[in-house]
Amino acid sequence: MPHAINLETCKKCGLCAEVCPNQIMEWAPEKEPGFRPDRLSLCIGCGHCMAVCPTQSITAGGMSYAKDFFDLPVGGLGESDFFNFLSSRRSVRNFQDKPVPREMLQRILDAIAFAPMGFPPHKIEVTVVQNRTIIHKALPQMMKLYGDLNRWMKNPLVRFLMKRKMNPETFNTIQNHVIPAMEKGLPEMKERGRDIFTRGAPALILFHAPRGSENHTEDSHIAVSYGLLAAHALGLGASAIGLIPPAVERNKNLRRLFQIPDDNEVLASMIVGYPKNPFKRGIRRGLARVTWVEPNG
Ligand SMILES: Cc1cc2nc3c(=O)[nH]c(=O)nc-3n(C[C@H](O)[C@H](O)[C@H](O)COP(=O)(O)O)c2cc1C
Repeated sequence: MPHAINLETCKKCGLCAEVCPNQIMEWAPEKEPGFRPDRLSLCIGCGHCMAVCPTQSITAGGMSYAKDFFDLPVGGLGESDFFNFLSSRRSVRNFQDKPVPREMLQRILDAIAFAPMGFPPHKIEVTVVQNRTIIHKALPQMMKLYGDLNRWMKNPLVRFLMKRKMNPETFNTIQNHVIPAMEKGLPEMKERGRDIFTRGAPALILFHAPRGSENHTEDSHIAVSYGLLAAHALGLGASAIGLIPPAVERNKNLRRLFQIPDDNEVLASMIVGYPKNPFKRGIRRGLARVTWVEPNG
Protein backbone atom coordinates (compact mmCIF):
# COMPACT_ATOMS: atom_id res chain seq x y z
CA MET A 1 0.00 0.00 0.00
CA PRO A 2 1.52 3.32 -1.00
CA HIS A 3 2.11 6.15 1.39
CA ALA A 4 -0.08 9.10 0.43
CA ILE A 5 -1.39 12.43 1.67
CA ASN A 6 -4.73 13.73 0.43
CA LEU A 7 -3.73 17.33 -0.26
CA GLU A 8 -7.36 18.38 -0.76
CA THR A 9 -8.28 17.62 2.84
CA CYS A 10 -4.86 18.11 4.47
CA LYS A 11 -4.78 21.19 6.75
CA LYS A 12 -0.98 21.38 6.57
CA CYS A 13 -0.78 21.43 10.36
CA GLY A 14 2.42 19.37 10.39
CA LEU A 15 1.31 17.10 13.25
CA CYS A 16 2.02 13.97 11.21
CA ALA A 17 5.60 15.07 10.65
CA GLU A 18 6.00 15.93 14.32
CA VAL A 19 4.87 12.54 15.66
CA CYS A 20 6.57 10.32 13.05
CA PRO A 21 9.34 8.43 14.91
CA ASN A 22 11.54 8.33 11.83
CA GLN A 23 10.91 11.72 10.22
CA ILE A 24 9.42 10.24 7.09
CA MET A 25 7.27 13.30 6.37
CA GLU A 26 8.46 16.43 4.74
CA TRP A 27 6.80 19.47 6.21
CA ALA A 28 7.46 23.21 6.29
CA PRO A 29 4.89 26.00 6.80
CA GLU A 30 5.12 27.29 3.26
CA LYS A 31 5.44 23.92 1.48
CA GLU A 32 3.06 21.14 0.56
CA PRO A 33 3.54 18.20 2.92
CA GLY A 34 4.72 14.92 1.51
CA PHE A 35 6.66 11.75 2.27
CA ARG A 36 10.44 11.73 1.86
CA PRO A 37 11.19 8.93 -0.61
CA ASP A 38 14.66 8.39 0.83
CA ARG A 39 13.15 7.66 4.28
CA LEU A 40 10.06 5.66 3.33
CA SER A 41 11.86 2.41 4.08
CA LEU A 42 12.09 3.56 7.72
CA CYS A 43 8.31 3.44 8.16
CA ILE A 44 7.56 0.91 10.92
CA GLY A 45 3.81 1.03 10.37
CA CYS A 46 3.13 2.46 13.82
CA GLY A 47 0.09 4.40 12.54
CA HIS A 48 0.90 7.49 14.59
CA CYS A 49 0.68 9.89 11.61
CA MET A 50 -2.78 8.57 10.75
CA ALA A 51 -3.91 8.60 14.38
CA VAL A 52 -2.92 12.24 14.90
CA CYS A 53 -4.20 13.68 11.60
CA PRO A 54 -7.32 15.79 12.29
CA THR A 55 -8.75 15.24 8.79
CA GLN A 56 -7.88 11.59 8.09
CA SER A 57 -5.76 12.68 5.15
CA ILE A 58 -2.93 10.16 5.40
CA THR A 59 -2.41 6.63 4.19
CA ALA A 60 0.69 4.88 5.51
CA GLY A 61 2.04 1.51 6.54
CA GLY A 62 -0.70 -0.43 4.76
CA MET A 63 -3.29 0.81 7.25
CA SER A 64 -6.76 2.20 6.62
CA TYR A 65 -8.92 4.51 8.72
CA ALA A 66 -11.92 2.22 8.39
CA LYS A 67 -10.14 -0.98 9.45
CA ASP A 68 -7.30 0.00 11.76
CA PHE A 69 -8.50 3.01 13.77
CA PHE A 70 -11.29 3.81 16.19
CA ASP A 71 -12.54 6.91 17.97
CA LEU A 72 -10.78 7.44 21.26
CA PRO A 73 -12.95 6.76 24.30
CA VAL A 74 -14.03 9.85 26.18
CA GLY A 75 -12.76 10.27 29.74
CA GLY A 76 -10.19 8.02 31.31
CA LEU A 77 -8.75 6.68 34.49
CA GLY A 78 -8.00 9.35 37.08
CA GLU A 79 -4.59 9.26 38.72
CA SER A 80 -5.81 7.80 42.00
CA ASP A 81 -7.94 5.14 40.26
CA PHE A 82 -4.90 4.19 38.22
CA PHE A 83 -2.62 3.83 41.24
CA ASN A 84 -5.32 2.05 43.26
CA PHE A 85 -5.71 -0.39 40.40
CA LEU A 86 -1.98 -1.05 40.02
CA SER A 87 -1.33 -1.33 43.73
CA SER A 88 -4.11 -3.86 44.27
CA ARG A 89 -2.87 -6.33 41.64
CA ARG A 90 -1.25 -9.47 43.01
CA SER A 91 0.15 -12.61 41.50
CA VAL A 92 -2.66 -15.05 42.17
CA ARG A 93 -1.79 -18.72 42.70
CA ASN A 94 -4.97 -20.03 44.32
CA PHE A 95 -8.09 -20.38 42.26
CA GLN A 96 -11.74 -21.27 42.60
CA ASP A 97 -12.75 -24.46 40.87
CA LYS A 98 -14.55 -22.57 38.13
CA PRO A 99 -13.70 -22.18 34.45
CA VAL A 100 -13.05 -18.74 32.98
CA PRO A 101 -15.54 -17.98 30.19
CA ARG A 102 -14.01 -17.66 26.76
CA GLU A 103 -15.35 -14.08 26.44
CA MET A 104 -13.30 -13.01 29.46
CA LEU A 105 -10.17 -14.66 28.09
CA GLN A 106 -10.87 -12.87 24.81
CA ARG A 107 -11.03 -9.54 26.72
CA ILE A 108 -7.59 -10.31 28.12
CA LEU A 109 -6.33 -10.89 24.59
CA ASP A 110 -7.97 -7.63 23.46
CA ALA A 111 -5.98 -5.81 26.14
CA ILE A 112 -2.75 -7.62 25.23
CA ALA A 113 -3.18 -6.48 21.63
CA PHE A 114 -2.90 -2.86 22.90
CA ALA A 115 0.57 -3.52 24.36
CA PRO A 116 3.48 -1.60 22.86
CA MET A 117 5.89 -3.57 20.71
CA GLY A 118 9.39 -2.93 19.36
CA PHE A 119 8.20 -2.81 15.78
CA PRO A 120 4.64 -3.17 14.57
CA PRO A 121 2.89 -5.35 13.71
CA HIS A 122 2.83 -7.71 16.69
CA LYS A 123 5.11 -10.71 16.38
CA ILE A 124 3.51 -12.28 19.42
CA GLU A 125 1.19 -15.23 19.01
CA VAL A 126 -0.78 -16.69 21.89
CA THR A 127 -2.13 -20.10 22.75
CA VAL A 128 -5.05 -20.04 25.13
CA VAL A 129 -5.52 -23.27 27.03
CA GLN A 130 -8.97 -22.97 28.62
CA ASN A 131 -9.16 -26.58 29.54
CA ARG A 132 -7.80 -28.04 32.76
CA THR A 133 -7.73 -31.52 31.17
CA ILE A 134 -5.11 -30.39 28.68
CA ILE A 135 -3.12 -28.59 31.37
CA HIS A 136 -3.23 -31.77 33.47
CA LYS A 137 -1.73 -33.77 30.63
CA ALA A 138 1.24 -31.40 30.57
CA LEU A 139 2.14 -31.70 34.23
CA PRO A 140 3.91 -35.10 34.24
CA GLN A 141 6.15 -33.94 31.38
CA MET A 142 7.03 -30.77 33.27
CA MET A 143 7.80 -32.79 36.38
CA LYS A 144 10.11 -35.02 34.35
CA LEU A 145 11.93 -32.07 32.76
CA TYR A 146 12.49 -30.26 36.04
CA GLY A 147 13.40 -33.53 37.78
CA ASP A 148 16.12 -34.05 35.15
CA LEU A 149 17.34 -30.48 35.57
CA ASN A 150 17.48 -30.98 39.33
CA ARG A 151 19.62 -34.09 38.88
CA TRP A 152 21.96 -32.45 36.38
CA MET A 153 22.52 -29.48 38.65
CA LYS A 154 23.69 -31.84 41.41
CA ASN A 155 26.50 -33.08 39.17
CA PRO A 156 29.43 -30.60 39.57
CA LEU A 157 30.70 -31.21 36.03
CA VAL A 158 27.30 -30.73 34.39
CA ARG A 159 26.69 -27.69 36.58
CA PHE A 160 30.02 -26.21 35.51
CA LEU A 161 29.22 -26.82 31.83
CA MET A 162 25.74 -25.34 32.19
CA LYS A 163 27.19 -22.26 33.85
CA ARG A 164 29.58 -21.78 30.94
CA LYS A 165 26.90 -22.32 28.31
CA MET A 166 24.01 -20.33 29.79
CA ASN A 167 23.79 -16.63 30.22
CA PRO A 168 24.41 -15.69 33.87
CA GLU A 169 20.84 -14.46 34.36
CA THR A 170 19.37 -17.85 33.44
CA PHE A 171 21.96 -19.81 35.41
CA ASN A 172 21.46 -17.72 38.55
CA THR A 173 17.68 -18.02 38.28
CA ILE A 174 17.97 -21.79 37.99
CA GLN A 175 20.54 -22.17 40.75
CA ASN A 176 19.04 -19.72 43.25
CA HIS A 177 15.31 -20.15 42.66
CA VAL A 178 14.29 -23.00 40.40
CA ILE A 179 16.36 -25.78 41.95
CA PRO A 180 15.48 -24.99 45.60
CA ALA A 181 11.79 -24.78 44.61
CA MET A 182 11.98 -28.07 42.72
CA GLU A 183 13.86 -29.79 45.53
CA LYS A 184 10.87 -29.28 47.82
CA GLY A 185 8.08 -28.96 45.25
CA LEU A 186 8.58 -32.00 43.04
CA PRO A 187 8.21 -34.57 45.85
CA GLU A 188 5.11 -32.70 47.10
CA MET A 189 3.67 -32.73 43.61
CA LYS A 190 4.36 -36.44 43.25
CA GLU A 191 3.04 -37.42 46.66
CA ARG A 192 0.24 -34.95 47.23
CA GLY A 193 -0.59 -33.71 43.74
CA ARG A 194 0.21 -30.08 44.57
CA ASP A 195 0.55 -28.42 41.14
CA ILE A 196 3.68 -26.28 41.46
CA PHE A 197 3.67 -25.30 37.79
CA THR A 198 0.19 -24.10 36.87
CA ARG A 199 -1.16 -23.85 40.44
CA GLY A 200 -4.42 -25.58 39.54
CA ALA A 201 -5.42 -22.65 37.32
CA PRO A 202 -8.34 -23.25 34.99
CA ALA A 203 -6.66 -21.41 32.10
CA LEU A 204 -3.17 -20.89 30.76
CA ILE A 205 -1.97 -18.45 28.11
CA LEU A 206 1.31 -19.12 26.31
CA PHE A 207 3.13 -16.38 24.42
CA HIS A 208 5.30 -17.39 21.49
CA ALA A 209 6.73 -15.89 18.33
CA PRO A 210 8.71 -16.89 15.27
CA ARG A 211 12.35 -17.43 16.21
CA GLY A 212 14.47 -14.45 15.29
CA SER A 213 11.56 -12.05 14.83
CA GLU A 214 12.46 -8.56 15.95
CA ASN A 215 12.14 -7.72 19.63
CA HIS A 216 9.91 -10.69 20.37
CA THR A 217 11.43 -11.50 23.76
CA GLU A 218 10.84 -8.06 25.22
CA ASP A 219 7.47 -7.80 23.48
CA SER A 220 6.27 -11.05 25.02
CA HIS A 221 7.03 -9.90 28.57
CA ILE A 222 5.27 -6.61 28.00
CA ALA A 223 2.33 -8.56 26.57
CA VAL A 224 2.17 -10.67 29.73
CA SER A 225 2.15 -7.52 31.85
CA TYR A 226 -0.84 -6.25 29.92
CA GLY A 227 -2.50 -9.63 30.34
CA LEU A 228 -1.97 -9.59 34.11
CA LEU A 229 -3.45 -6.12 34.37
CA ALA A 230 -6.40 -7.00 32.16
CA ALA A 231 -7.15 -10.07 34.29
CA HIS A 232 -7.10 -7.85 37.38
CA ALA A 233 -9.44 -5.33 35.73
CA LEU A 234 -11.87 -8.16 34.96
CA GLY A 235 -11.91 -9.35 38.58
CA LEU A 236 -9.84 -12.41 37.71
CA GLY A 237 -6.53 -13.45 39.24
CA ALA A 238 -3.40 -14.17 37.24
CA SER A 239 0.31 -14.75 37.54
CA ALA A 240 3.21 -14.85 35.12
CA ILE A 241 4.77 -18.31 35.16
CA GLY A 242 8.40 -18.42 34.15
CA LEU A 243 8.73 -22.19 34.69
CA ILE A 244 6.48 -23.16 31.81
CA PRO A 245 8.04 -21.59 28.66
CA PRO A 246 11.45 -23.35 28.90
CA ALA A 247 9.71 -26.68 29.48
CA VAL A 248 7.35 -26.29 26.52
CA GLU A 249 10.14 -24.90 24.37
CA ARG A 250 12.27 -28.03 24.90
CA ASN A 251 9.69 -30.78 24.83
CA LYS A 252 8.10 -32.04 21.62
CA ASN A 253 5.09 -33.56 23.39
CA LEU A 254 4.33 -30.34 25.20
CA ARG A 255 4.74 -28.35 21.99
CA ARG A 256 2.27 -30.65 20.29
CA LEU A 257 -0.14 -30.60 23.22
CA PHE A 258 -0.19 -26.80 23.20
CA GLN A 259 -0.16 -26.58 19.39
CA ILE A 260 2.99 -24.46 19.22
CA PRO A 261 4.11 -23.96 15.59
CA ASP A 262 7.48 -25.61 14.89
CA ASP A 263 9.22 -22.33 14.06
CA ASN A 264 8.00 -20.54 17.16
CA GLU A 265 9.86 -19.90 20.37
CA VAL A 266 7.84 -20.05 23.60
CA LEU A 267 8.77 -17.02 25.66
CA ALA A 268 6.29 -16.37 28.41
CA SER A 269 3.16 -17.66 30.05
CA MET A 270 0.45 -16.66 32.48
CA ILE A 271 -2.16 -18.56 34.46
CA VAL A 272 -5.67 -17.16 34.95
CA GLY A 273 -8.68 -17.99 37.05
CA TYR A 274 -11.11 -16.70 39.63
CA PRO A 275 -9.11 -15.85 42.74
CA LYS A 276 -9.84 -17.96 45.80
CA ASN A 277 -8.31 -15.81 48.54
CA PRO A 278 -8.86 -12.06 48.28
CA PHE A 279 -5.84 -10.14 49.57
CA LYS A 280 -6.58 -7.86 52.52
CA ARG A 281 -3.80 -5.36 51.96
CA GLY A 282 -1.34 -4.10 49.38
CA ILE A 283 2.38 -4.69 49.56
CA ARG A 284 4.66 -1.67 49.64
CA ARG A 285 7.57 -2.15 47.27
CA GLY A 286 10.47 -0.03 46.13
CA LEU A 287 12.84 -0.35 43.21
CA ALA A 288 16.32 -1.70 43.84
CA ARG A 289 17.80 1.76 43.42
CA VAL A 290 16.79 5.12 41.99
CA THR A 291 19.36 7.59 40.73
CA TRP A 292 18.24 11.08 39.83
CA VAL A 293 20.62 12.76 37.46
CA GLU A 294 20.31 16.42 38.49
CA PRO A 295 20.78 19.21 35.94
CA ASN A 296 23.80 20.50 37.84
CA GLY A 297 24.95 17.15 39.21
C1 LIG B 1 8.85 -13.12 34.62
C2 LIG B 1 8.10 -13.67 35.80
C3 LIG B 1 8.09 -15.05 36.01
C4 LIG B 1 7.38 -15.57 37.10
N1 LIG B 1 7.34 -16.92 37.27
C5 LIG B 1 6.61 -17.44 38.26
C6 LIG B 1 6.50 -18.87 38.40
O1 LIG B 1 7.06 -19.65 37.63
N2 LIG B 1 5.73 -19.34 39.42
C7 LIG B 1 5.07 -18.51 40.28
O2 LIG B 1 4.39 -18.99 41.16
N3 LIG B 1 5.17 -17.15 40.19
C8 LIG B 1 5.91 -16.61 39.19
N4 LIG B 1 5.99 -15.24 39.04
C9 LIG B 1 5.28 -14.35 39.96
C10 LIG B 1 6.26 -13.66 40.92
O3 LIG B 1 6.74 -14.59 41.85
C11 LIG B 1 5.53 -12.48 41.58
O4 LIG B 1 5.31 -11.51 40.61
C12 LIG B 1 6.34 -11.88 42.72
O5 LIG B 1 6.42 -12.77 43.79
C13 LIG B 1 5.73 -10.59 43.22
O6 LIG B 1 4.39 -10.76 43.60
P1 LIG B 1 3.25 -9.81 43.03
O7 LIG B 1 3.18 -10.01 41.54
O8 LIG B 1 2.00 -10.22 43.73
O9 LIG B 1 3.64 -8.39 43.35
C14 LIG B 1 6.70 -14.69 37.98
C15 LIG B 1 6.73 -13.32 37.75
C16 LIG B 1 7.42 -12.81 36.69
C17 LIG B 1 7.42 -11.33 36.45
